[in-house]
Amino acid sequence: MEFSLINTPVQKFDGDMVVVFANSKIDFADDNVQQLIKLNHFESKPGSTLLLSLVKGFKAKQVLVVGLGELPNSAKNYIKALTSASAILNSTQAKSAMIEQVEIEGFDQGWRHRMSARVLKDSGYKVQQVGVQGQDDPLENIAIQSTYNDAHELLQGRSIASGMRLTRHLGDLPPNICTPTYLAQTAQELANEFNLDCEVLEEADMRKLGMGSLLSVSKGSIEAPKLISLSYRGDGDSKPIVLVGKGVTFDSGGISLKPGAGMDEMKYDMCGAASVLGAMRAIAEIKPKINLTIVVPAVENMPAHNASKPGDVVTSMSGQTIEILNTDAEGRLILCDALTYVEKFNPEVVIDAATLTGAVIVALGKHHCGLMANDQELADDLLTAGKVSLDSAWQLPLDDEYDELLKSNFADMGNIGGREAGTVTAACFLARYTKKYRWAHLDIAGTAWVSGAKKGATGRPVPLLTQYILDQV
Ligand code: BES
Ligand code: MN
Ligand code: ZN
Repeated sequence: MEFSLINTPVQKFDGDMVVVFANSKIDFADDNVQQLIKLNHFESKPGSTLLLSLVKGFKAKQVLVVGLGELPNSAKNYIKALTSASAILNSTQAKSAMIEQVEIEGFDQGWRHRMSARVLKDSGYKVQQVGVQGQDDPLENIAIQSTYNDAHELLQGRSIASGMRLTRHLGDLPPNICTPTYLAQTAQELANEFNLDCEVLEEADMRKLGMGSLLSVSKGSIEAPKLISLSYRGDGDSKPIVLVGKGVTFDSGGISLKPGAGMDEMKYDMCGAASVLGAMRAIAEIKPKINLTIVVPAVENMPAHNASKPGDVVTSMSGQTIEILNTDAEGRLILCDALTYVEKFNPEVVIDAATLTGAVIVALGKHHCGLMANDQELADDLLTAGKVSLDSAWQLPLDDEYDELLKSNFADMGNIGGREAGTVTAACFLARYTKKYRWAHLDIAGTAWVSGAKKGATGRPVPLLTQYILDQV
């Protein structure tokens, strides 16, 4: 799928389909389209569509009218409109399309270019069935109408979508295929494609480093644990941004076994890992002047005769001891060792993304991801990146009072804090391992995938992470 900018009237576009927007006022610039909109009783609800063929005055074969809702045109409605336009474009097998220019309140032309390319490319994602060869996008060329002739945001948008597609693909893969070994292979392939530095630590390496906490999660599984690091160098020796992604390729809960209903969705417990790999793919394509390292602790959490038990005490790489009170609070057990490990990169900031707690879904639902940080400036930057990319985060507190809930009689801390504020106590646990640098934590348990009939990975928070990184250049 190639994107370009053109500065010609929509009527002159000589391709398969022109996408034009209509809002509550419905006074469309083209008289013929205006008449057809009236005739068809088209209501300009956000994302509603009307497909017209062989419209007088248009060179393109078809004109797709898409509703933008009330004026002024909002960013959210623009995404809705593009998403439904994309569904039609993909179902009609159109090969070339032009998207009409439109003003979006609060955002400039560059933003619109980035968002258009991102949404159109991302919406073409299809789940790849096991044993079935993936197909190329039917849509080959998309021209975005614009009077602003600078395509760099457009290309950014395409790269962000290509990162999101990797993230969604990894998330949607079945857990017998997407194992820690598979994630390590994926990282190695990215390294080969984009000339990145890749290092994969094996169980023995991790044991030498003293990662007793991480290894306590993987020990009940037949799948070998991996600690994956991947670095992009675009800015000499400057301190890197480090992203850490939770990579539990299946979370059964371990001996603290989860209930059976919906347990298949715990294949998505590696979406943090998938999202940092996706962000790396986007950045490696965009090639900004910045250094980025991603680190993925990858394990499978299973019950077994040799699995960790509630009551076990383990020693983390940092030297702090942990009483495992619930083997289902495993994400923090792998992340804490990864967060100690990343000190070696001398990070500018560290941001982790993790499907860490069911409690964040109770607190925030499926719209915002949870954000907690030990540095308010970093938190603010991430909140802004979330708003700009429409991949939003909402900050939760991280006061000392919550940290006290982690007290244990038998170790430096327990791995759970009780019933209250589960998302915050999980972050407090991680905060004990991130004192040496500026750090933020994204709890993406509510946003990384959707359940129900449309079950599938969303590609979040790749847009937020990539936007944050691009904002630092
Ligand atoms: N991966 C889960 C979190 C999760 C649960 C994400 C449901 C999405 C949907 C995590 O490892 C977990 O099991 N967390 C426990 C923590 C509890 C034992 C303190 C949870 O949220 O129930
Ligand atoms: Mn769990
Ligand atoms: Zn988990």
